[in-house]
Amino acid sequence: MESSQDPRELDIVHSWHVNAGAWSNAIRTSSIASRTLVTNQAIIDAVSSVAPRRLLDLGCGEGWLVRALSTRGMSVVGVDIVPELIARAVALGGGEFQVQDYASIANRRARLGAFDAVVCNFSLLGEQSVESLIAALPFYLNHPGYLIVQTLHPVSACGEYPYRDGWREGSWLGFGRDFSNPAPWYFRTVESWSAMLERCAFDILECREPRADAAASPASQIWIGRARRSAQTSGPRSME
Ligand SMILES: C[S@@+](CC[C@H](N)C(=O)[O-])C[C@H]1O[C@@H](n2cnc3c(N)ncnc32)[C@H](O)[C@@H]1O
Repeated sequence: MESSQDPRELDIVHSWHVNAGAWSNAIRTSSIASRTLVTNQAIIDAVSSVAPRRLLDLGCGEGWLVRALSTRGMSVVGVDIVPELIARAVALGGGEFQVQDYASIANRRARLGAFDAVVCNFSLLGEQSVESLIAALPFYLNHPGYLIVQTLHPVSACGEYPYRDGWREGSWLGFGRDFSNPAPWYFRTVESWSAMLERCAFDILECREPRADAAASPASQIWIGRARRSAQTSGPRSME
């Protein structure tokens, strides 16, 4: 972590250290309804649509998506900053896991090899940390290389606030009493997400808005982007 970092970026990481156990339990017991109803299958479908052979799951948590996609024939590496979550993922198996923070991926220090796609499932929570991370991803991608991001839907998640980019207070409302220390998160409008992906050299191929059949509003937003440049086309270098 860089010392000049916004303290709110550090709060995000601290919160995940504190809540690792509660989060693992919530995933193990399938207690987040929107996930079991809509967003788990939606991200599996979105990643499957680009058919990667080797996939990187950034902010993989306890690794459920790595396991789900490995059983579909993909070779998946999951990384997360929280050692407790990675220990849980390793114990459950079904993929390769490493403790890594976004900063070391952003500054290209992470030794991960090359991938056909990168997926971020509800794991892009900060401001500058996220843009630096996404800007570095073409370095880790083969050609063609894809990025699949699932986030809260900006229109649904905006609440009573003005529909403008900015830091928002966190909340674990509805997550149960085991959770504490909610972290702030950085809200981006739909326009801002799409502009950031374009700035970071990803062409947007698709924007999906998955929702439950009976629901009035989408459960999430999924971006599928293709890198305009990639490790294999931007000059000779060793990826290992
Ligand atoms: C909402 S959880 C999602 C976990 C997983 N992708 C899933 O779908 O269950 C967000 C994850 O992002 C990880 N994360 C947040 N900031 C990170 C950072 N700077 N570097 C690496 N992982 C980070 C957290 O540790 C946490 O596991």
